[in-house]
Amino acid sequence: MATVIDGKEVAGSVIEAVKTASELLQKETGVQTGLAVVIVGNDPASHAYVSSKSKMAKECGFTSVQHTLPEETTQEELAALVQTLNADPSLHGILVQLPLPKHLNSEPIIQSVLPEKDVDGLHVVNAGKLATGDLEGGLVSCTPAGSMVFVRRVHGEDLSGLNAVVIGRSTLFGKPMGQLLLAANATVTIAHSRTKDLASVCRNADILVAAVGRAEMVKADWVKPGATVIDVGINRIAAPEKGEGKSRMVGDVAFAECADVAGVITPVPGGVGPMTIAMLMANTVIAAYRKAGRKAPKF
Ligand code: GUN
Repeated sequence: MATVIDGKEVAGSVIEAVKTASELLQKETGVQTGLAVVIVGNDPASHAYVSSKSKMAKECGFTSVQHTLPEETTQEELAALVQTLNADPSLHGILVQLPLPKHLNSEPIIQSVLPEKDVDGLHVVNAGKLATGDLEGGLVSCTPAGSMVFVRRVHGEDLSGLNAVVIGRSTLFGKPMGQLLLAANATVTIAHSRTKDLASVCRNADILVAAVGRAEMVKADWVKPGATVIDVGINRIAAPEKGEGKSRMVGDVAFAECADVAGVITPVPGGVGPMTIAMLMANTVIAAYRKAGRKAPKF
């Protein structure tokens, strides 16, 4: 049976380190770290995420500002708010919750956030810094950054000689995850829906990262014995055993059977999920340190 990573526990240790860092920055420079979170519209899941981000920012000792805009907000109104937040020196991080309502174009909004305040790591400048291996200069998107914390805890800083396979090539996760693994010297394959014989590609992985959005797609015979399996999927499936119309959350990995083969595995829920908010807080305090001309802590 694999060792199961407790994402809440690891995220808790990152949050403690963020609190210590933000207190130290305030004590030494008088700067209080500030995060602005923007949400547009009424999507209940997005509101739940945003509330937990704002609450966690307060717990970390940050100034936490939440802008809740109505569904009918225009592109110009949202763009104007981002400009105001960009210009506010008390704010070090800006996060615009995605997805935006359908009538809004998210790309120009994301690209209008100042790169140094882009704590989501979605700006092309930050994507470019990651692609060129400049991990110290930019901000890395939170879910891949959180997944790398797990990888480092298991394998250390140097992944030389290890094969890593990432399933999924999204801009938000697969591509940056591949870059981070590569920067740590792993031999990286980014697999996707057009990959031939995905199972045998995966069986070659010492580190297997699944981010495809297909419930329990990765089976036990895809996993190399002793591999580290990181499950980034969040899928809701019907759970009639819990009652009529009920659902439960599962990852992209068939957890029970893969846990018999893997060396280390992350559960869903309670694996990568809690790390995303923790790394958002980490990115915000990193941005505040840089703004204050201090060397940023590492998480
Ligand atoms: N919606 C779901 N996940 C995320 C995220 O990591 N960042 C933003 N901005 N929106 C999201």
